[in-house]
Amino acid sequence: MSKVMIFDHPLIQHKLSILRDKRTGTKQFRELINEIAMLMCYEATRDLPLEDVKVETPMEKMTAKKISGRTLAFVPILRAGLGMVDGMLNLVPTAKVGHIGMYRDPETHQPVDYYCKLPADIPERDVIVLDPMLATGGSAIDAVARIKEFSPRSIKFMCIIAAPEGVDAFTAAHPDVEVFCAALDRQLNDHAYILPGLGDAGDRIFGTK
Ligand code: PRP
Ligand code: URA
Repeated sequence: MSKVMIFDHPLIQHKLSILRDKRTGTKQFRELINEIAMLMCYEATRDLPLEDVKVETPMEKMTAKKISGRTLAFVPILRAGLGMVDGMLNLVPTAKVGHIGMYRDPETHQPVDYYCKLPADIPERDVIVLDPMLATGGSAIDAVARIKEFSPRSIKFMCIIAAPEGVDAFTAAHPDVEVFCAALDRQLNDHAYILPGLGDAGDRIFGTK
């Protein structure tokens, strides 16, 4: 069974409230989405494997820890997932970044796959898929299925706001993929937008509406 982790850290919740506010403009929205992603990244990487390394401090030699081997690849779902990448890279600057393009057909709400470019060494990496919104779950389900074709070592999915409908659909489709979110909202509306949500994440990040 896949797990759903809700990050209820006060800093994340405080920033999320400002993010949701319709008066928050594009500049602040971008900054907040990156800050929230960075805080979530800290929690989501808690289980990274460590190995012993020899270090000489100014005082003496010691055995210390460093992250073991090739590790992470971040894969934002275009467009809105791009808004989380810089925050993630602030914490893990050596991570590689793949891209997967999906948009929801406005009539059917079904995801349309239009781009996929992943790091060549993806089978040696743990992937964190990024998208601020998990609504019906269609985009995330298809994106993760596409990424699985390239056999990464593991996959996690990180979003900022999830709807119960999306969580149910995603965990049924990918029971092996852990889901991280900052909030589990009430429901979807008739247009498959999350309530209360934050509106259209892509439009708010890129100022397209
Ligand atoms: C949004 C969002 C997710 C998707 C979530 O993208 O960023 O990718 O909708 O909805 P779902 O769970 O019902 O699939 P959108 O299709 O608006 O594209 P955009 O990022 O290019 O704006
Ligand atoms: N995509 C968004 O950007 N917002 C929603 O509420 C649902 C899908």
